[in-house]
Amino acid sequence: MFRTIFDLSSNVILLQKYCAERGFLKSPQRISDIRNTAMEKIRSLFIKYWSSDVGLDGKTAIVTGANTGIGKATAKDLAKRGARVILACRDIVKAELAVHDITREIKGANVEARKLDLADNKSICEFAENIYNTEKVLHLLINNAGVAACPYSTTVDGYEMQLGVNHLGHFFLTFLLLDLLKHSAPSRVINVSSSAHAMGRINFEDLHSRREYHPIKAYTQSKLANILFTRELSKKTEGLGVTAYAVHPGVVNTELVRHVKSPLEVMWKKFSYFLKTPEEGAYTVLYCSLTPVSELVSGGYYSDCAQSATARNGRDDGTALKLWAVSCHLLGIRWN
Ligand SMILES: NC(=O)c1ccc[n+]([C@@H]2O[C@H](COP(=O)([O-])OP(=O)(O)OC[C@H]3O[C@@H](n4cnc5c(N)ncnc54)[C@H](OP(=O)(O)O)[C@@H]3O)[C@@H](O)[C@H]2O)c1
Repeated sequence: MFRTIFDLSSNVILLQKYCAERGFLKSPQRISDIRNTAMEKIRSLFIKYWSSDVGLDGKTAIVTGANTGIGKATAKDLAKRGARVILACRDIVKAELAVHDITREIKGANVEARKLDLADNKSICEFAENIYNTEKVLHLLINNAGVAACPYSTTVDGYEMQLGVNHLGHFFLTFLLLDLLKHSAPSRVINVSSSAHAMGRINFEDLHSRREYHPIKAYTQSKLANILFTRELSKKTEGLGVTAYAVHPGVVNTELVRHVKSPLEVMWKKFSYFLKTPEEGAYTVLYCSLTPVSELVSGGYYSDCAQSATARNGRDDGTALKLWAVSCHLLGIRWN
């Protein structure tokens, strides 16, 4: 795909040069207009616009990692629809800044910043306790926060960072908030995964990569875990009015690649125009949040605002059950 984009955009630039040299196009403004239109056309070939007019008055949502990227775009959209939105972030200063941005853009937005560090079980407990103390209902839990391809490190509780934040932290948070979700039914849990799950494997022999660490393998393992968790959660909550969806947001121009070094970093910057914006990255998360439940499949995997097939490893119910049991064991919880 990148090759096609590269060829197309190079051709636009060559054509522009050719016309300018022969005096066909004299005005630089006109040249830049043509280039922008052509680039927009190329972009719209593979990034489709999506919108919905569903309102969310009286609904409450939590979005993890909502100070930036897809999470912030999701929180803003939900707030625009009238929902009360809690931005659950590890850095409360960044979270307050995001609240400030959203309220400046959306008059009367009901948004609030709360501290949640998914790399610390104590912080997750305190966050959940705080939610039970202040909220009567919770309709949407959007498990969005993520860390990708970071150097080896562990969470406060000793889990490998990517597994800890992306999977175990959200698993624990969902466990703690499930009573409120059930009480507020119909309610939904949306786990932001990735198509990178296809390269993942749950390495039960060395789940925390203590013997050998590979940053991409650890990321793909955690994103596969998101899908297996969603699948199993949908079974456990069947008949309770709580549904669960896993989402691939697309390739989105966010800060996620902060730990990724060249040549991928160079490619990412070069083609950033052709990546989804955070707002476009939020489309499928919003699609799963707003589409009538009867039109969605609980436990399903969604990409580009439609149900999609996971890779085979994402449909392995045996691994999903084992991961569930191992996650409960690590967190010291009973969740049947
Ligand atoms: N961007 C893509 O192309 C892409 C593709 C597929 C899937 N995804 C998934 O989309 C989700 C959102 O990513 P993004 O692209 O929006 O990335 P991002 O811009 O880097 O945002 C990630 C968010 O997660 C937060 N976070 C990281 N560690 C945390 C922790 N310990 N506790 C609480 N929050 C924490 C970050 O907080 P700080 O700002 O404080 O670091 C940030 O708010 C992730 O789950 C990612 O795996 C993204």
